[in-house]
Amino acid sequence: MASKKIITVFGATGAQGGAVANTFLHDAKLKADWTVRAVTRDVTKPSATKLRDQGAEVVSADMNTPSTLREAMTGAYAVYAVTNYWESKDAAVEIRQGKALADAALAAGVQHYIWSSLLNMTKLSNGRFPHIHHFDSKAQIEDYIRTTPLPATFFLPGFYMPNIPSGQMRLDADSGAWTFALPVPATARIPLFNPADTGKFVASAVLQREATLGKRILGASEYLTCEEVVEAFRRVFPEAGKGARYVQLKEEQFKEGLVGKGMGEDVAQELLENMLILEAPGYYGGEGLEETLELVKGAGLSVGGWEEFVKGGRGWEALK
Ligand SMILES: NC(=O)c1ccc[n+]([C@@H]2O[C@H](COP(=O)([O-])OP(=O)(O)OC[C@H]3O[C@@H](n4cnc5c(N)ncnc54)[C@H](OP(=O)(O)O)[C@@H]3O)[C@@H](O)[C@H]2O)c1
Repeated sequence: MASKKIITVFGATGAQGGAVANTFLHDAKLKADWTVRAVTRDVTKPSATKLRDQGAEVVSADMNTPSTLREAMTGAYAVYAVTNYWESKDAAVEIRQGKALADAALAAGVQHYIWSSLLNMTKLSNGRFPHIHHFDSKAQIEDYIRTTPLPATFFLPGFYMPNIPSGQMRLDADSGAWTFALPVPATARIPLFNPADTGKFVASAVLQREATLGKRILGASEYLTCEEVVEAFRRVFPEAGKGARYVQLKEEQFKEGLVGKGMGEDVAQELLENMLILEAPGYYGGEGLEETLELVKGAGLSVGGWEEFVKGGRGWEALK
């Protein structure tokens, strides 16, 4: 029997990488051909020992210490690489990490490198939104990877669905109505992404390597307008959802809300612009999801929509 291929997964104790590890460990077809090497800085933490219990090889490496990265990728056929901008909130740190990861993958002879990327919003918005550093830095890393011979696919995660119940949609104390509030018109389109589906998108790339090398995969199951996000909530929770509504916040109001929660002015501006792009130029610059969804289908997989996520009740357990 031929030996199984290894996929090294960075961020394996987090949302995206954790989902990739989960898919490759548990999907019947994938686990027959693949083993998972999960990377963390702390192999003793519960999320790491859980991965080991589920059959992953758990190894230690730190993206801030480039010398630790190559070993984590040696012998791996594929790699899923994601950096966490929010830990340093420093684009220069993220770019250093992203380049070190790609350099190590090249040195280790990785055959399929999947980079968790995003678009360069400063460029795409013609300078209108120059502060979405966590987008621009990932795009700069993508640009760097494209200058190397590393065989790579670029996965662009969409708007995290769990961010909605954890903050952007809440029970308004004054009106008693569930209120979804963002600083964009109700018609702005959101590419909804359940990070728990990351593994499905990544598996679609890995299973169709030749077709996806050099390509971008847009990590979203559907575009919904802000109004449609609320409509689905009303359908799932007809009682609690009575009166649920979308409210367009003024830009200053949105920022003040974040600063009021203790966020720095710079980060609040970054997040404000991160929302404003939904209206224009669009999170993915207006690109449709058809090609990505075809790819997922082609791999015999499917990704869940917003209504399914709401039905899952995560974040709204009390309403079930
Ligand atoms: N939230 C959104 O709507 C959204 C949308 C698109 C993209 N993103 C991007 O998603 C990224 C975060 O991904 P996530 O949600 O999966 O993060 P997460 O759940 O917070 O997990 C972060 C992971 O990164 C690992 N990590 C962080 N620093 C590391 C280092 N120096 N060396 C090795 N591993 C390190 C952590 O591992 P250990 O702690 O175990 O070492 C952990 O597994 C961010 O860069 C963000 O910009 C977010």
